[in-house]
Amino acid sequence: MNKLPLVALISGRGSNLKAIIDAQNPLVEIRAVISNRPQAKGLLYAQQAGISTEIIDHTQFSKRIEFDTTLKTRIDYYQPKLIVLAGFMRILTPEFINHYQGRLLNIHPSLLPAFKGLHTHKRVLESGAKEHGTSVHFVTEDLDAGPIIIQARVPVLPDDNEEKLAARVLQQEHRIYSQAIHWFAQSRLQLQGQNVLLDGKPLNSWRKLI
Ligand code: GRF
Repeated sequence: MNKLPLVALISGRGSNLKAIIDAQNPLVEIRAVISNRPQAKGLLYAQQAGISTEIIDHTQFSKRIEFDTTLKTRIDYYQPKLIVLAGFMRILTPEFINHYQGRLLNIHPSLLPAFKGLHTHKRVLESGAKEHGTSVHFVTEDLDAGPIIIQARVPVLPDDNEEKLAARVLQQEHRIYSQAIHWFAQSRLQLQGQNVLLDGKPLNSWRKLI
């Protein structure tokens, strides 16, 4: 089977990227890691693994579209079949997103559609919710609203603080992102309109939650 060429986009810590690298999936070839922040720690994980890295510093661009166009050119240089956002903290233009329709994934630290946006752990604690989690989804033009591929839930415990809860969620992130990538690499995963198909069948909500 041909390996799935993948490019990952990061902005910071890079623990999801590290989990993807450490999974050593024989069906996946990480061709490059691109960061919009020069100091992103995740770049080091890539370099240690011998993966090409690039920095495209968004502060050097006056318009979002110019940054996205440069980013697109650099991504396409590697001819990836899958692009994964792994803690990439930039809003992308519709032009960019549409260019990669059906092959652009993101991981979000909440049980979407609940708690879109930033500071999810803090907001979950403030809400009094008993359950929290993480979701991997296809990226579409609506922020954090693309079709969901896989989710994992964790309990919110009585003595939780943001840090403890975030760590519990992060463990699950590392598990489900690799799983989603594995399905994609096996050519089992597909985006059809707003539906996610696994083995040609729509994923029901109970099948998405692991
Ligand atoms: C993760 O919580 C991810 O869900 C969110 O950004 C964070 C990135 O963490 N999109 P890391 O850089 O992968 O450690």
